Amino acid sequence: MNPALKRERTNWRGLPGRLMRSLLARRGSIAAPLGPEWQADLALIRDTRKRVALLLNDAAALQIRIAVRTAARLDGAMAEAGVLMGGSARLIAEAKGDALLYLFDVFDTLQGAAPGGFSSEAEVRGHFGTTHGALAMVEALLSPYPDIRIRPGVFPSTASGLGEERFSFVHLDLDLPGATRDALDFFHPRLVAGGILIGDDYKDREVREVFTAFFAGKADTVMPLPWGQVMIVRQG
Ligand SMILES: C[S@@+](CC[C@H](N)C(=O)[O-])C[C@H]1O[C@@H](n2cnc3c(N)ncnc32)[C@H](O)[C@@H]1O
Repeated sequence: MNPALKRERTNWRGLPGRLMRSLLARRGSIAAPLGPEWQADLALIRDTRKRVALLLNDAAALQIRIAVRTAARLDGAMAEAGVLMGGSARLIAEAKGDALLYLFDVFDTLQGAAPGGFSSEAEVRGHFGTTHGALAMVEALLSPYPDIRIRPGVFPSTASGLGEERFSFVHLDLDLPGATRDALDFFHPRLVAGGILIGDDYKDREVREVFTAFFAGKADTVMPLPWGQVMIVRQG
């Protein structure tokens, strides 16, 4: 075929994709076709959305899957602080292998309870009001997966007794700067070398400032990600 004609045909075929990419780019978004090895991740993310409200965008959810699969080769438990309905916890549970998975959230423990007077509890009550995930629903969602340890209540008091635990992967999705700071204080010294911590809410100025202050002067690799997360790799 005449090469000019062939080029024209190829360009014509590519046009809808180019148009869509250019429209998305103007809105600050991208479209990227995923290779076959990631299709199962997308299917799981879609399936999870059908079951519960998952508060992460697809790129952030995919990032968690990739990081958990990588961290599963290391020794150590995994953890999520900020579980809500268990959507992101399901994505972790599906990829964690044999690792223990600790899940920290108030769930419905504050419903109707008198305020306890802890500053972290006041912060959670003030921000989330009565909107929390139901523990029984999260237990049911995660019942197919082994080695899940749910710690209901206000973090960091719910981490008591875990001082000797070591973690290969941690997902922090607490929304709140104070709770995020508490979680970094607890998890960072317990991350194994090469262990990965993903923080959500990095678009939020106050949460971002907590990460910036915490990691200033530390040797760990800190990667802000364009879809609203930050990923830390612990240096030994
Ligand atoms: C944004 S939601 C988590 C969303 C979930 N990761 C997802 O993707 O579907 C934040 C959760 O953090 C919990 N939370 C915030 N501060 C907390 C604290 N100090 N202790 C326990 N849970 C806390 C809230 O109850 C809420 O369920």
